[in-house]
Amino acid sequence: MSAFLLILILFAQTPPRGNAETGRTLFMKIGCYQCHGREAQGSTATGPRLNQNPITYTRFVSYIRKPSGEMPPYTAKVVSEQQAADIFAFLQSLPKPPAVESIPLLRQ
Ligand code: HEC
Repeated sequence: MSAFLLILILFAQTPPRGNAETGRTLFMKIGCYQCHGREAQGSTATGPRLNQNPITYTRFVSYIRKPSGEMPPYTAKVVSEQQAADIFAFLQSLPKPPAVESIPLLRQ
C-alpha cells in the first residue's frame, strides 16, 4: 500500500476537533444534562455518568446515533458530527476522580 493511501486512511479516521466550551453549551442546549447531570456526573434515576467515562469517540458517536436502551437517539440533523466532537471534548475536559493510590486512607 502506498504511503499516500495510508495517510488518507489515518485522516479519515481522525474525529473532527472538538471545542470543550462549545460542547458544554451544547450539552445544556440540546438537553443531555437533563438526564446526565450538568457536570455529566449522572444520576441513578435518569442516566449514567459520562464524565469519567473512558469510551472512545467512535463509540460515543455511534451510541448517541443509535442508543440501545432508554436514551433517545440523536440523528445528525439534531447533533452534527462537529457538535458531537464538541460534546465529546467537553466530556473529556471534565475532571477525573483521583487515582485510588493517591488517597492515603485507601492505601492502608
Ligand atoms: C432522556 C434522558 C437522556 C437524555 C436526554 C440523554 N441521555 Fe444519554 N443516556 C441515557 C440513559 C438512560 C443511558 C444509559 C443507557 C440507555 O438506557 O440508553 C444513556 C447513555 C449514554 C451514553 C453511553 C454511555 C456508555 O458508557 O456507554 C452516552 C455516550 C450518552 N448517553 C450521551 C448522551 C449525550 C451526548 C446526550 C445529549 C446529546 C444524551 N446522552 C442525552 C439517558 C439520556
